[in-house]
Amino acid sequence: MDSIRIRGGKPLYGTIEISGAKNAALPLMVASLLTEGTVNLGNLPHVADISTLINLLCQHGVKAHLNGESNENGSSNGRTISLTAEEITSTEAPYEIVRKMRAGALVLGPLLARVGKAKVSLPGGCAIGTRPMNLHLEGLEAMGATIKIDAGYMIAEAPNGLKGAEIRFDSVSVGATEDLLMAACLAEGVTILDNAAREPEITDLVHLLQAMGADIDGEGTERLVITGKPRLHGANYSVMPDRIETGTYAIAAAIAGGRIELTNTRADLVSSVVEVLEHAGVSIETTDNGLIVSRDPASPIKGVDILTQPYPGYPTDMQAQIMALMTVSTGASMITETIFENRFMHVPELTRLGANINVHGRSAMVRGSDGLVGAPVMATDLRASVSLVLAGLAASGETVINRVYHLDRGYERLEEKLAACGADICRVQGS
Ligand code: UD1
Repeated sequence: MDSIRIRGGKPLYGTIEISGAKNAALPLMVASLLTEGTVNLGNLPHVADISTLINLLCQHGVKAHLNGESNENGSSNGRTISLTAEEITSTEAPYEIVRKMRAGALVLGPLLARVGKAKVSLPGGCAIGTRPMNLHLEGLEAMGATIKIDAGYMIAEAPNGLKGAEIRFDSVSVGATEDLLMAACLAEGVTILDNAAREPEITDLVHLLQAMGADIDGEGTERLVITGKPRLHGANYSVMPDRIETGTYAIAAAIAGGRIELTNTRADLVSSVVEVLEHAGVSIETTDNGLIVSRDPASPIKGVDILTQPYPGYPTDMQAQIMALMTVSTGASMITETIFENRFMHVPELTRLGANINVHGRSAMVRGSDGLVGAPVMATDLRASVSLVLAGLAASGETVINRVYHLDRGYERLEEKLAACGADICRVQGS
């Protein structure tokens, strides 16, 4: 297994081009199941989760063609995929694929809407929590599906098609909103999704579905109104920039000090992160195609309290990274996780680097330490892994992050992007 080695303490200067958003690209790719036509997606990120989803879609019968691996700068922003689901040859999404990546379960609603049946593995628990599927299932049942759970699979049927329904989510779920939104596009009649998630990735999905001929009102709000159509058609679309990658590199500039320009992205996607960083004493400038993040390495980081919330609140996917930054602040920071019940696995690893963190239930009290010191650490999930990279950039001496396959699920060429800004970071090939 590969590891990443960092010798910390170097300020970062340069430009980082942000990739397309993994969390937008995954549902956009799944939307190809809704039509016989071809869906062409540009700005596709080159990360492992995308390959996992291509495998899943192909075994449902989708024909996939990837083009433009990377350009001469090493950037893969020209990368596109064409997906054509002319015929659905299998309605089963197997455990071997869905267990690796929960987003695989998003095929449930689209398959049911397109061909009236689906057998999709329950994704199971994961390191950050139990992550049930109840909101997806209750919504599809309200639309007329019958669903049973058997041997770890959700077996759903709607032989006469799905019918429009009024659905109010008990709690905000990105995945359930996406799943039901896609299903509703081919349902008969009007579907209303209330208390829907408002993440920008959902708006990206709405825009693709509209380009495919879907009738959707209320984009960007908590009430989506979808009037079903008998069929959708193919479309060309470009994946939005990755706001979590944007925020992560903004914190890299903040924790290491220096000045990094982030391009091919949008500051408005990371407003809540920018607000926290500015309170912490980091300077942010908005540009036409991104933002510039800078901090004089000699100026202190101030402690800021953070609460994770659904969009437009502070994202849970940026919680581990901001915690890494707070470990080197001059004050204290209370970080409260409200989305997932078990998302502090990075704490013991950050502690190995000298961080001072106490967890009480869903809150972590982080007190700034005199300085982090490099050590071998273990990646436990995608965002936890990157928080260790960020801490390693600030730590003196050498930090080795093991099990970096978690990082590869969601960060494209992370070590190359940071090294280009002067970080002493490299990948060590494992056996
Ligand atoms: C998506 C993101 C993930 C992010 C999360 C929250 C993708 C591919 N993944 O995950 O990176 O951390 O949003 O912003 O876009 N829940 C239920 N019942 C359900 C569904 C969810 O109780 O049927 C709970 C979950 O356990 C969790 C909360 O709702 O506590 C939010 O989960 P959800 O928004 O659905 O996350 P995902 O879509 O899985």
